[in-house]
Amino acid sequence: MKQAWWKESVVYQIYPRSFCDSNGDGVGDLRGIIGKLDYLQQLGVDVVWLSPVYKSPNDDNGYDISDYQDIMDEFGTLADWEELLAGMHQRDIKLVMDLVVNHTSDEHPWFVEARKSRDNPYRDYYIWRPGKDGREPNNWKSHFSGSAWQYDPVTDEYYLHLFSKKQPDLNWENPKVRREVYAMMRWWLDKGVDGFRMDVINMISKVPGLPDVPHAAGDERYLYGGQYFLNGPRLLEFLDEMKREVLSHYDILTVGETPGVSTQDAIDLTNETSGSLNMVFQFEHMDVDTASGSSSRESAVPWRLADLKRIMTRWQTDLEGRGWNSNYLNNHDQPRQVSRFGNDGPYRVQSAKLLGTFLHMLQGTPYVYQGEELGMTNVAFPSIEDYDDIETVNMYHELVDEQGKDPQAVLAVVHAKSRDNARTPVQWDDSPNAGFTSGTPWLKVNPNYTTINARQALADPDSIFHTYRRLIRLRKENPIIVYGRYDLLLANHPQIYAFTRTLEDDRLLVLLNFSTETPLFELPEDVRYAGCELLIANYPVDSPDEIQRMTLRPYEARVIRLLPL
Ligand code: NOJ
Repeated sequence: MKQAWWKESVVYQIYPRSFCDSNGDGVGDLRGIIGKLDYLQQLGVDVVWLSPVYKSPNDDNGYDISDYQDIMDEFGTLADWEELLAGMHQRDIKLVMDLVVNHTSDEHPWFVEARKSRDNPYRDYYIWRPGKDGREPNNWKSHFSGSAWQYDPVTDEYYLHLFSKKQPDLNWENPKVRREVYAMMRWWLDKGVDGFRMDVINMISKVPGLPDVPHAAGDERYLYGGQYFLNGPRLLEFLDEMKREVLSHYDILTVGETPGVSTQDAIDLTNETSGSLNMVFQFEHMDVDTASGSSSRESAVPWRLADLKRIMTRWQTDLEGRGWNSNYLNNHDQPRQVSRFGNDGPYRVQSAKLLGTFLHMLQGTPYVYQGEELGMTNVAFPSIEDYDDIETVNMYHELVDEQGKDPQAVLAVVHAKSRDNARTPVQWDDSPNAGFTSGTPWLKVNPNYTTINARQALADPDSIFHTYRRLIRLRKENPIIVYGRYDLLLANHPQIYAFTRTLEDDRLLVLLNFSTETPLFELPEDVRYAGCELLIANYPVDSPDEIQRMTLRPYEARVIRLLPL
């Protein structure tokens, strides 16, 4: 397997709005990040992925961009950004920017022009269609509820928006659009950025004709049209062109956000010879707690370890030598991992460390989302009024006001799945507003900040933070953690997730008890070794050499080196 810095790196995601506010306006900003660079360096991360900081009316918190080449007023200035980049590079931290080019804001000058008239030179930068039988051009549903089409009276046509109506989709069929995007990417790369995370990049090619999702006669609902815009017919061609025009000229990290990809799609996108990207974010494991037939945001059901093992194992083995995984358990769009996959009650600390161990011991590049290293948890605001996220708020009103669902039941799903779980401000200390701002935070702080915060974590050598620091260091010291092959053990064990990593004659055994119980681990007989060495654990281990049969404590995690015979 080829060696590459982006395989050996650990990426830390910053959602700037919620990270740290330097000027008391209640919104995180670039100078706030600059003030925390030493913290990131102490943690040891190699790369920061910065969620969008560009000019934006903030309908979707920066994922609706009105100027790709300037900074949002609330976040600071381009000069602040230059200082941030320099501060990162001084500390050997690379900076990956968010590239949001499936859509712009409706306030982007291209769209402002495009909507003026049907023959405006920018008209074809977006996707316009006449209505059909007095309705929208097709029955696609927007990710943020309602139709994916907005009627524009000025020209008596509809435009497509897979997200909010303030996020019109760009028309990638138009070569001018593609050239503008490539020029903008080069502009940032020439400023010294180290890569891009590409927002919903597998939605840029739509099936020609934009067909209706099949539906029963008379069914007037809007339906998810993913089959017509996920991994569309020209996706690989567009990305290949982007690689030729831009990516191949720089030594950068590229990661595509790609809902609905199979492992084969991911291999096509990321294999080292013909692929265009280094890695993609897949979403299969984000659906283990979704009821079948439901959308992931609208349902929260108990998940089974067997499903997580099956999915992760397929990604690990299918991509081995053929592509590269990016591993994550949460981000700014997902609930907090400790609340979802661990235990945010009595075993919060142990389970957060277990999840960190899991993430770092898989093959692939690990992504740590801000606050994960502190074991930050979901929040349960009492009222929908406390929520900010456009997706959450729209979904709530659709289910409660339009479909008459029970508000308390919908609020329970919001508590489990809302994106705002991840967006509450980072908990820096136990002072008011968790030290995030001296003003009023744009989204309420999670009330548990008095006990869960960075000041406490830094002071406690046994904290989740220091476990993450050790995991990140282990990656630097042990090439097997980056490059070793993954093999699942005990496929059917209901509580224990165990696997080995192998690189030549080096071998690691990873043991994870994903439960509050105390199951017995028995090493399969064909696993032979001459001795063992404990690399990391989340409980004190008295007899590290006795690994044939072990009773694992609740959420116990151990990584053991098996010495060769
Ligand atoms: C995916 C982003 O991660 C999410 O936050 C955003 O709302 C959509 N893409 C639209 O840009």
